[in-house]
This record gives sequence, C-alpha cells and structure tokens, in this order.
Amino acid sequence: MTYIVLDSCIACKYTDCVEVCPVDCFYEGENMLVIHPDECIDCGVCEPECPVDAIRPDTEPGMEPWVEFNRRYSEIWPVILESREPLPDAEVHEDEEGKLEKYFSEKPGEGS
Ligand code: SF4
Ligand code: F3S
Repeated sequence: MTYIVLDSCIACKYTDCVEVCPVDCFYEGENMLVIHPDECIDCGVCEPECPVDAIRPDTEPGMEPWVEFNRRYSEIWPVILESREPLPDAEVHEDEEGKLEKYFSEKPGEGS
C-alpha cells in the first residue's frame, strides 16, 4: 500500500505534506507534487495535512492510474524536503475541476 497525490494538488502546491513525511518521499513538479510509491511507508500522516484533500491511500477504488502517475514523475522530478509558499493563485484553484487537463506541467520543480 502507498499514499498518492491526486490532481487536486495541481496549481495549488501547498507543500504542508512535505514537512510531516518521515521518509522524504515527495517529489516536485512545476505545479504539483507526487509521492514515490516504493518509498512511502504508508504512515498516513500527510493525508490530513493537505488543505485540498489531494492525498489518498491507493486502497480507494480507481487509484491504479494515479499510482503509476506518481511513480512516473517521482522518478524524474527532484525530491522536495522543505515546505515553501503555495503557488500564487492557489486559493483561486482550490475547488476547481479538470486541473490535470488545464494546468498540469511535466516540467520539474526546484526541489530542495
Ligand atoms: Fe510520507 Fe507517510 Fe505520506 Fe507516505 S503516507 S508520503 S510515508 S507522510
Ligand atoms: Fe499538494 Fe496538498 Fe501537498 S496541495 S503539495 S498534496 S499539501
């Protein structure tokens, strides 16, 4: 089992999750984070930290594509170890639908 980041994170990137992860398994894209499924120890402490409820366990139905999405990008984006300011329009995009199609960027983030 692993936890994964869903598209609710896109265009928000609050990074509250990063601070609490005991194994530093968050990786940073330009406008979202992902979790490496093989490094996550399933502790679950990050899930309640996310203001937009973007973090879920892979035991929920329909999560297989998101596990592969998280795996794919965690292998090419840099690790992020410290929280930082959310993206500038994070509040505007909090409850928006279809963020994957509208905003997702494959570019890596800064990492830390
Ligand atoms: Fe890190 Fe635990 Fe969240 Fe996995 S469930 S990403 S180990 S804080
Ligand atoms: Fe994204 Fe939520 Fe973490 S918005 S960066 S998964 S706190």
